[in-house]
Amino acid sequence: MATPGPAPRPPVVQVQHVSKDYKLGDETVHALKDVSFQIDDGVFLAIAGPSGSGKSTMLNMIGCIDTPSSGKIVIDGTEVSGRTPDELADLRSRTISFVFQTFNLFPVLTAEENVEYPMLRRSDISKTERKERVAFFLNTVGLTKYAGHRPNQLSGGQRQRVAIARALATRPRIVLADEPTANLDYRTGESILSMMKAINRAFETTFVFSTHDQRVMGMADRLVRIEDGEITTLGVRVGKVWKYAKEKEVQIPTNDNELQQLLRDDPELRRMVMEDPELRRALLDDNSAPSIASKGN
Ligand SMILES: Nc1ncnc2c1ncn2[C@@H]1O[C@H](COP(=O)(O)OP(=O)(O)O)[C@@H](O)[C@H]1O
Ligand SMILES: [Mg+2]
Repeated sequence: MATPGPAPRPPVVQVQHVSKDYKLGDETVHALKDVSFQIDDGVFLAIAGPSGSGKSTMLNMIGCIDTPSSGKIVIDGTEVSGRTPDELADLRSRTISFVFQTFNLFPVLTAEENVEYPMLRRSDISKTERKERVAFFLNTVGLTKYAGHRPNQLSGGQRQRVAIARALATRPRIVLADEPTANLDYRTGESILSMMKAINRAFETTFVFSTHDQRVMGMADRLVRIEDGEITTLGVRVGKVWKYAKEKEVQIPTNDNELQQLLRDDPELRRMVMEDPELRRALLDDNSAPSIASKGN
C-alpha cells in the first residue's frame, strides 16, 4: 500500500474576484478590477507593476488595512470580510507583519525598542520571551551592535533591517513589504532583498513584496504582475526557469527545448524577458539572449 505523502499546505492567502473602487469627488477610481490569485505558504512573491497600478491597494487588502469593494480575501483560513475592526486587528497582529518603503520606525525609540514594540500588545508573549526575540532577530539582521541606536543614528539600509527584525519578531505567517527597496540605493536594496530571501528560506516565512523595479522582481520565485488594476501575468520560477501564465494552472518547463518553445509561443513572456536583463540572465545563458531577439515579433 502506498504511504501518503505529507498533506500539501493550503495557500496562506486567497484573493477571489477582488475589486476596489475609490471615490474621488465625482469620479470613481477602479484601483483593482476582479483580481484573483493565491499565495502558497512559504513563497517569496513579487507584486510588480508601474506606479499607480494597484500594488499598494493589493497589499493593503491582503494586510487587512483596507477592505475590498467586492470579492473575497481569505487569510490563513479566515475570511476577512464581515470581521469587526477588533477581530481584524487580532488576525493582523498574529498573522501579518508590514515592512514599509519609508521604514516607519519610531524616531524616539532605539532599534531594540522598535523591534519590541509590536510584541507589547501581545499578552501571550512574556517579557523574557520578548527580550529573547528582540536579541535573536536583531542578530538575524546583523544589527546586534546597533541595538541602542535611534533611527537617525542608522543608515537607510540599517533602518530597513530594524523594520525587518520588527516584522519578524511576532513570528508572522506573512510579511508584506510595500516597495521595501524604493528608498535605498540599488546595492543596499539588493542586500536587503537577499536578506529577506535568506530569512524566507530559513524560517519559511511567506514574503510578499511590491516593486516597480524590474531588477528586484527577478529575485522572486512567484510573480504577480498588475497593470491598471488588473493581473496581466502570473509567474512561477523553478530553478532558473520562469513560466508565465494568466491561468493558475502553471506548467513548469523541464528543459531548454521546452523553454525555447515557450518563448516562441508566448509573446508576453518574450517581451518580459527582452525588457529585463536580470530575467534574461536568470532564464537564459547571457549569450543566448540575442538569438531570442532575432526571432522578433
Ligand atoms: N485612498 C485613495 N483614494 C483615491 N484613490 C486612490 C487611493 N489610494 C489609491 N488610489 C488610486 O488607486 C490607484 C492605485 O494606487 P496604488 O495602489 O497606490 O498603486 P501603486 O502602489 O501600484 O503605485 C491609483 O490610481 C491611485 O491614484
Ligand atoms: Mg504603492
